[in-house]
Amino acid sequence: MTSDLEFYDRLKDLKIPNSVAIILDGNGRWAQKRNLPRELGHKAGCDTLEEIIDYASKIGIKYLTVYAFSTENWKRSKEEIDALFRLFKLYVPIIIDNAHKNNSRCYIIGDLSRFSKEMQDTCKMLMEETKSGTNMVFTMALNYGGRDEIIRAINKLFIAKITEHNNKEWTKKELDNLDITEDSFKNYLDTNIIPDPDLLIRTSGEMRLSNFMPWQLAYTEFYMPETLWPDFHKEELVKAIESYNKRDRRFGGRK
Ligand code: IPE
Ligand code: IPE
Ligand code: MG
Repeated sequence: MTSDLEFYDRLKDLKIPNSVAIILDGNGRWAQKRNLPRELGHKAGCDTLEEIIDYASKIGIKYLTVYAFSTENWKRSKEEIDALFRLFKLYVPIIIDNAHKNNSRCYIIGDLSRFSKEMQDTCKMLMEETKSGTNMVFTMALNYGGRDEIIRAINKLFIAKITEHNNKEWTKKELDNLDITEDSFKNYLDTNIIPDPDLLIRTSGEMRLSNFMPWQLAYTEFYMPETLWPDFHKEELVKAIESYNKRDRRFGGRK
């Protein structure tokens, strides 16, 4: 058995990114390579996720956000979608247990209104049971699409402004002072408790966002290894952090 802080030497002089996002991709191909049903690829992906959540909280990542089911994933077969949600329910007690052990908080982003009442209750329970965790916030994006999130945010903002204004007619001065800024708009996004990611990892060699956090990733560093998600073990996360440490983040400025 190797210790949890294996690779510590490689990390000890490195800057640990505060907020990390991962597009968990490649479960299907991992299963296909082994002539297994896709569901077993997702199962292996869940085991890897458990390992990575645990390791991330131990090495000092403060926010870990993973893309687990997109608004576009409803295009998959009913069989695969059912299998994914079966696995989610199976893993919830494990995720809660681990969150308690690591003093972490679990959070969910995405449009949950499309899910069954039972699924929505499970999501609420997961957040409620872990809400006092302070070490790391682990967020799962479920029925999440970046464009959908922005449109939902605009709707919320619109309703807030109308309510605030009490349905009166707007004067020109009021319209000039609407005060919709990047900072105020961010509060209406699902991710309002999560700082913009410093590092985005997408496994399986795909070089696209597939509708994941287009607003939040504007200045994020990308790391996209060929590794399929179920094979993304601790050392892969260390490699991602090593790569992150070689980046020169200029945010548009010059030194
Ligand atoms: C990622 O693995 C998991 C989900 C999208 C739910 P995939 O199922 O996309 O795996 P590939 O891309 O087919 O290999
Ligand atoms: C992105 O992966 C969504 C998740 C990982 C949840 P997909 O496998 O669905 O993305 P595409 O279809 O390859 O763009
Ligand atoms: Mg995929």
